[in-house]
Amino acid sequence: MASPFRSYLNDLYNKHRGLKKGRVADYIPELALASADSFGICVVSTDGQTFEVGDCDKTFTIQSISKAFVFGLALEDHGRKYVNSKVGMEPTGEAFNSIILDEATNRPYNPMVNSGAIATTDLIKGRNGTERLKRILEMFGRYTGRAHDINVPVFLSEKETGHRNRAMAFLMLNFSMVSEKIDETLDLYFQQCSMLVNAKDLAMMSATLANGGVNPVTGIRAIEERYVQDVISLMLTCGMYDASGEWAYRVGIPAKSGVAGGITAVASGKLGIGIYSPPLDAKGNSTRGIKVCEEISRDFGLHMFNTATPKHDLVTWMNGDHDSLGW
Ligand code: DON
Repeated sequence: MASPFRSYLNDLYNKHRGLKKGRVADYIPELALASADSFGICVVSTDGQTFEVGDCDKTFTIQSISKAFVFGLALEDHGRKYVNSKVGMEPTGEAFNSIILDEATNRPYNPMVNSGAIATTDLIKGRNGTERLKRILEMFGRYTGRAHDINVPVFLSEKETGHRNRAMAFLMLNFSMVSEKIDETLDLYFQQCSMLVNAKDLAMMSATLANGGVNPVTGIRAIEERYVQDVISLMLTCGMYDASGEWAYRVGIPAKSGVAGGITAVASGKLGIGIYSPPLDAKGNSTRGIKVCEEISRDFGLHMFNTATPKHDLVTWMNGDHDSLGW
């Protein structure tokens, strides 16, 4: 039985593949090698159906999308109270790499900007860097259902050029917001950003969050259920950097983006969306990715506050066939 949702995604892909807006990130030299034409859209429903179009097997580095998930692991390692003492939960309204801390508490503002992510990475338990990295990679494997590797040239490129991140880490050390193992933690942060994923992985990761923390295909729990809402709510308020407010207003699906051009978006209880398209807007979010999420949200009524009858009924479009819809 053909699903009309597949045809819908094909049309969406064809509609936006020609979009030329945005620039491929080049502040980390290795990232500049990506093709501006790469484009993949994948949707995974909480009942485990996968819909994909375009370059969904092409791997790229996860970058900042890792921040949401590593925050979840830090919560599992230490609990809310301790994690919240090291990293806040307020949007900054500033760029992802801004060097600011909350003046009242000396905490980084939230785990989705670089400073906050370095603080959460610092919290990941393990006897040494190797063990901590292994725990992070295994955690991602539970979300995606497969094993993950690091792109070593990207990692080295980040490490070589990440002076700003190093500066933030030392500023946070000054306020005892991070431990003294700064070099190990920064390596770990650069490694987690350099982990390879594809659009399918991103859709599976958000579908897992949408499904209460259990991967809808493998049935494996990736994160304790009680922390799922922590991760998703910070994705909503801070996941798209200084565009998070506009995203919440226009799209209304909690999401996290990365500078390699990935976006993962969580429609709780329904589905996860994974997109890969490297050209970014001025705020660091994938230009095609924004358009795609906006349209899927509008057409299927996925905005978290939508109460109007959507243009298309999600369940019918995912499960139905063309005939039943009179095509
Ligand atoms: O810290 C950095 O510069 C990157 N490795 C992570 C950046 C990122 O994805 C932020 N994005 N929009």
